[in-house]
Amino acid sequence: MKKVSRRQFLQQAGRTGLAVTAASALGRFGIAQTQRVTRVTIDSNRQISEINPHLFGSFLEQLGRAIYEGIYDPKSKFADADGFRTDVMKEIHDLGVPIIRWPGGNFVSGYHWLDGVGPKKDRPAVLDRAWNTLETNQFGTNEFITWARKVGTEPLFGLNFGTGSAEDAAALVEYCNVEKGTKWSDLRRSHGYEKPHNVKYWCVGNEMDGPWQIGHMEAREYGIKAADAARQMRAVDETVKLVACGSSGPFMPTYITWDRTVLEQCYEYVDGISLHRYWGNTDETGHDSQKYMAMNLAMDRQIEEIISVCDAVRAQKRSGKQLFLSFDEWNVWYRARSGDAVNGRRTEAPHLLEEPYNLEDALLVGGLVNSLMRHSDRVKVACLAQLVNVIAPIMTNKDGVLRNTIFYPYSWGLKYGRGRALSIEPEGPSYEVASLGKPIEDIGLAVPGFGKVQYLDVMATYQPEQKTATIFALNRDLENEQELELNWHDLTPSRVIAFETMTGSDLKALNTFADPKKVVPQTAPSPSVGLKMSVKLPARSYSVLTLAL
Ligand code: AHR
Repeated sequence: MKKVSRRQFLQQAGRTGLAVTAASALGRFGIAQTQRVTRVTIDSNRQISEINPHLFGSFLEQLGRAIYEGIYDPKSKFADADGFRTDVMKEIHDLGVPIIRWPGGNFVSGYHWLDGVGPKKDRPAVLDRAWNTLETNQFGTNEFITWARKVGTEPLFGLNFGTGSAEDAAALVEYCNVEKGTKWSDLRRSHGYEKPHNVKYWCVGNEMDGPWQIGHMEAREYGIKAADAARQMRAVDETVKLVACGSSGPFMPTYITWDRTVLEQCYEYVDGISLHRYWGNTDETGHDSQKYMAMNLAMDRQIEEIISVCDAVRAQKRSGKQLFLSFDEWNVWYRARSGDAVNGRRTEAPHLLEEPYNLEDALLVGGLVNSLMRHSDRVKVACLAQLVNVIAPIMTNKDGVLRNTIFYPYSWGLKYGRGRALSIEPEGPSYEVASLGKPIEDIGLAVPGFGKVQYLDVMATYQPEQKTATIFALNRDLENEQELELNWHDLTPSRVIAFETMTGSDLKALNTFADPKKVVPQTAPSPSVGLKMSVKLPARSYSVLTLAL
């Protein structure tokens, strides 16, 4: 981490890739910014929720180089006895990723789990039709569980609802979770795994609303099948937590209708519903970075819309049960999503979805981290999609690993997004995002803007046991430093433990294997601590400030 003086820090942040002129005193949207102060009161009694440790999970799909060459590469100089890359395991272990979704994604809808268990020499090489890739099946259920235990993460299993039946789903639960004495549990034991894997979390299919999905179906049909599968799975293991397949996103013509119809069929049998979304600085934002910085508000909106539909079905059913939300695919992804970036050409471990991430992507990911914590009362599971090589914070080559820019805000969510999320109401200057353009998956529906968007997006967490609190702040202002005034209502900060910032003069700067530290966090000069504190946040930045109480 770089350490710089306050003057250097703010100067550097001021050397913007965008021209900073006297006119910018009016702001890019012509709004006079005489005062660049956002005020917020921190009251530990005003809590959103205890943050579920699974809020900052991730995702590894059997796709591209995520598994093969990514986490599993027996020929690598870093491979352990199981063929797992130890350098990648260390990164993930040190990050502390709490839950990882596997094996897909689109891949799972054509995946036969039986192809991936038993002696490796007997496993078939098959054609994965989702990504047109040669799947050798050398990495399957037992390898994933072994790997997950080594890195200290909980598995979140995706089920094949495309070509797979409800019976197949229940058989996999039996294979994983029943101790012995049944067909599938004994098969697992014959494969060398005496103890059950005890997989608790299951995604009941993937994006089944999407015409691109193998086995895509109508909402009612999916809901009936999900209810049937859930009943069968619970008959095998009543402790499983089941996530129904929600809409693939607001761009879908069936958005909301899908979720409502599905839940009308399976509400009583599942525990949660999935949300997916990818953002980009595309036509949707008019390729305007200032608008792009506001896009985490689209995540807030999507979460609130899906909560509404869940609760409407709950009311309709007079159910006593409240569903949780599993935002099990979220990230920036817009460059590597066509042509050879999504076509494996029937080869093994092709370079697919290898999205490069720059500073502005990292800032937005910071905003998305804030949005997840803001909704931690209902979002109990979420997965940054994905983790290694495929739309990922971690890239590999044969000589080591690279941290993409988005690694850092994600790591802060993991490190500081703990304890209780506090409800705060920042008040400060804003700019207008009246409208948005066409999203990347445009279906011709108008997308509303956000109206007034505050320059600072702020979240706060409180860890009573550790006697610490953390402030997370995205400064969306691309040209100006903004000040955050913290008023502590009932807590007394005593010292700064850490104040780290992602910022820089070039929003498009990124890390490469040749220049891996181009965009990394900087240690910012500590603000004076008190019941009323002023924190200076450089232009174009995402920061975390942790305080001892
Ligand atoms: O994460 C990449 C892909 O995006 C997944 O396979 C699919 O579920 C989504 O459309």
